[in-house]
Amino acid sequence: MTKILGISGSLRKGSYNTALLNAAASLMPEGATLEVGSIKGIPLYDGDVEAMGYPEAAAVLKAKFIAADGVLLVTPEYNNGIPGVFKNAIDWLSRPPAEAGKVFGGKPLAVIGASPGGFGTILSQDAWLPVLRTLGTRTWFGGRLMVSRAHQLIGPTGELTDDKLKAQLRDFLKGFADFVNS
Ligand code: FNR
Repeated sequence: MTKILGISGSLRKGSYNTALLNAAASLMPEGATLEVGSIKGIPLYDGDVEAMGYPEAAAVLKAKFIAADGVLLVTPEYNNGIPGVFKNAIDWLSRPPAEAGKVFGGKPLAVIGASPGGFGTILSQDAWLPVLRTLGTRTWFGGRLMVSRAHQLIGPTGELTDDKLKAQLRDFLKGFADFVNS
């Protein structure tokens, strides 16, 4: 069984990105599962905090990251870039530097995202690229999913109301799972 870890970069309950991630968990291809990880509770990175001990919420996510065969980042876009809370979580996972290779090195990884705007997080997805290059992930470029006008495709309880989006997400997940296994 191929184990994918999915992480949403939004903390809010009504998040479109978390809804997209939760939908992904139910649209995985046969032979693959998606576990929903969380950045909630991870403190702002501070070297003084780190010196006192690695935060529990970051340790939990880091352990899941290491155990996963592949990772799916579901990123919102803030001011044409990566939301600080999401980058902060990944920064914690890259600590200490001696362990970063074990966490990220060669890890199959893909990025998708959703926005109520018209460009579907294209700029935040692109903003992840230099970060992922630095961390040495094996990033998948075989598919793209940029969900624009998310408020018209995702209902109030987080369900995907658009069949075309469901099909696109299913295809993306199949492609990524195949890549993870390749
Ligand atoms: C946004 N939003 C936004 N959307 C976008 O497509 N491009 C952008 O540059 C921005 N910039 C931005 C900055 C800040 C500070 C906030 C709070 C929001 C809107 C954003 O896409 C919207 O709030 C989404 O709903 C956020 O994702 P979640 O929380 O629904 O997953």
